[in-house]
Amino acid sequence: MLRGKNQKNNGKLANRFKDLLTVKWENNQVIMIDQTKLPGKLVYVRYKKYEDVARAIERLVVRGAPAIGVAAAFGMSLAAISSKAKTKKALLKDLKIAYNRLRSTRPTAVNLVWALDRIMNEASSKNELEDMKESIVHSSLNMATDDITTNKQLGKNGAEMIHNDDVILTHCNAGSLATVTYGTALGVLRAASDMGKNIQVIATETRPVMQGSRLTAFELDHYGIDFSLIPDTAVGHLMSSGLINKVIVGADRILKTGHVYNKIGTYQVAALAKRHNIPFYVAAPSSTFDLTSKVNEVVIEERNKNELMKMGNKLLAPKGIKVLNPAFDVTPPELITGIITEIGIINPPYEKTIAKIVRHG
Ligand code: MRU
Repeated sequence: MLRGKNQKNNGKLANRFKDLLTVKWENNQVIMIDQTKLPGKLVYVRYKKYEDVARAIERLVVRGAPAIGVAAAFGMSLAAISSKAKTKKALLKDLKIAYNRLRSTRPTAVNLVWALDRIMNEASSKNELEDMKESIVHSSLNMATDDITTNKQLGKNGAEMIHNDDVILTHCNAGSLATVTYGTALGVLRAASDMGKNIQVIATETRPVMQGSRLTAFELDHYGIDFSLIPDTAVGHLMSSGLINKVIVGADRILKTGHVYNKIGTYQVAALAKRHNIPFYVAAPSSTFDLTSKVNEVVIEERNKNELMKMGNKLLAPKGIKVLNPAFDVTPPELITGIITEIGIINPPYEKTIAKIVRHG
């Protein structure tokens, strides 16, 4: 039943297409895939001002925790090179304005603050204006390169626990389009496929913004990995029918206690997986860990009600009604089988293991 017509793309033919490069720096500009146009059109947009990068993050032109971190770092590079400041103090002031604007774009994914803090620290550590600017651009480029190597290593680590003929459910998009190019949860699946393992993926559509049907389906199709798209509402049915034997999702923030913030709907997928004894894995680089916040301190982004009220110009619900549109939820540690990182796979009890393994603070 689950073998769709894209089955022929599986195995050896996987990765026959070029890697999608989600965000990059070229000629002092930030270039990114406009994800609002997918799956219809694969188009790139260029930005010369950090304000435009901030707006792009808000509009989900670029989205996914690691990708918005790198995009924000490039935004800081734009702010640095366009600054007319003549002193270190004045440049730091300009950078702080850009930092605050970029930081205000989305509250939940910790990679954004992680990247911005690293750039500010780098700038503060230099004394000469040109050194400051150069080191910011250099650091943001390193961040982009590190994102690729880190996620490739994470993918390799995670692929070890994927077996032949596994049917793996993923939610939202934690792939190329959520990182610079390799992906986290989908990186694990790409690595497993590259190792020659025969896998099938089940992608949820991920309402209301449809990252699953618009982006994950686009990517899996692009990379030639066998998959089926399902409505979010079919997860329980497929699990109880025995048609899914693993779940892998990404994360926007992971606390020291093992609480995982990810796309809305992740918690119910995890709860259903527990109910059906299906292993539930989270894949994320160490930049996604927040070792200081407590569960009630993390802000869950509430997005515009029009994401639920309209499909294009078509009204989907009566005008003027009340809408709740949280973009993320929290999956408690007891529902999580393991957390796959570039350092290795972290197992419970998370309140002990995470602090031992992840050290960035
Ligand atoms: O609102 P989005 O599309 O930015 O949400 C993205 C997710 O929730 C992803 O699962 C998460 O960022 C992990 S991406 C590697």
